[in-house]
Amino acid sequence: MRWLALVLLAAPAAAQEFAPVHEVLSHPRCANCHVETDVPLWRTGVPHGLGVVAGESRMGIETLPCGTCHRAENGGFPHAAPGVEGWALAPPEMAWAARTPREICEQLKDPERNGGRTMAEVADHVSHDPLVVWGWAPGLGRDPAPGSPEEAARAILAWDAAGAPCP
Ligand code: HEC
Ligand code: HEC
Repeated sequence: MRWLALVLLAAPAAAQEFAPVHEVLSHPRCANCHVETDVPLWRTGVPHGLGVVAGESRMGIETLPCGTCHRAENGGFPHAAPGVEGWALAPPEMAWAARTPREICEQLKDPERNGGRTMAEVADHVSHDPLVVWGWAPGLGRDPAPGSPEEAARAILAWDAAGAPCP
C-alpha cells in the first residue's frame, strides 16, 4: 500500500507545479490566439467580431489578412486593434482555449504538438517571441498576462525540473 500513499502525496504537488504555468497560458492575452477553430477570441475570450476567419494560413491570407488591422504596434486607444509584426493564430494543435489544465499540460511537453521544442526552448520562446511578449504589454485598456515573461519562463523551467508533472 506504500505506493498508494506516495501517489496520494504526489498528486497535490503535481497540480501545484503546473499551476503558475497554467495561470499564464490560460489567460485571455494568451488563449485568445491559442484556439482550435478558425475564429480568434478577443477581450475576455469571446469570439472576435467583424467576421474574421483565420483560414489555413492562420493569418487570414485567404480572406482578410490579420495585418490589415493588426499592425506592427498597438493602436493608441482602448479597443483599437493591438499589434506586433506577424500577427497570427497559433496552429490548432497548440490550442489552449476550452482545454483542461491536464490537456494543456500534456500537449505543452509533447514535441508533436509544441513545435518540436524541448522545455528549455519552450521557456525561451515564452520570454523572447514577440507575439508572446506582447501578452505583457497588450495596449490600453487590456489586462496583461500575470507576472512577466521572465517569471513565466522560470515557472516552466521549475515545472520541468520537477519532472513536468501534470495535474
Ligand atoms: C497574436 C497571437 C498570439 C498570442 C497573443 C500568443 N501566441 Fe503563443 N503562439 C502564437 C503562434 C502563431 C505560435 C506558433 C509559433 C511557433 O510555433 O513558432 C505560438 C506558439 C506558442 C508556444 C510554442 C508552442 C507550444 O504550444 O508549446 C508557446 C509556449 C506560446 N505560444 C506561448 C504563449 C504565451 C505564454 C502567450 C501569452 C503571454 C502567447 N503565446 C500569446 C500566437 C500567439
Ligand atoms: C477588420 C479589422 C481586424 C481584422 C482583419 C482582424 N482583427 Fe483582430 N482585432 C481587431 C480589433 C479592433 C481588436 C480589439 C478589440 C478590443 O480590444 O475590443 C482585435 C482583437 C484581436 C485579438 C484579441 C487580443 C486580446 O487578447 O485582447 C486577437 C487574438 C485577434 N484580434 C486576432 C486576430 C487574428 C488572428 C486575425 C486574422 C485572422 C484578426 N484578429 C483580424 C480588428 C481586427
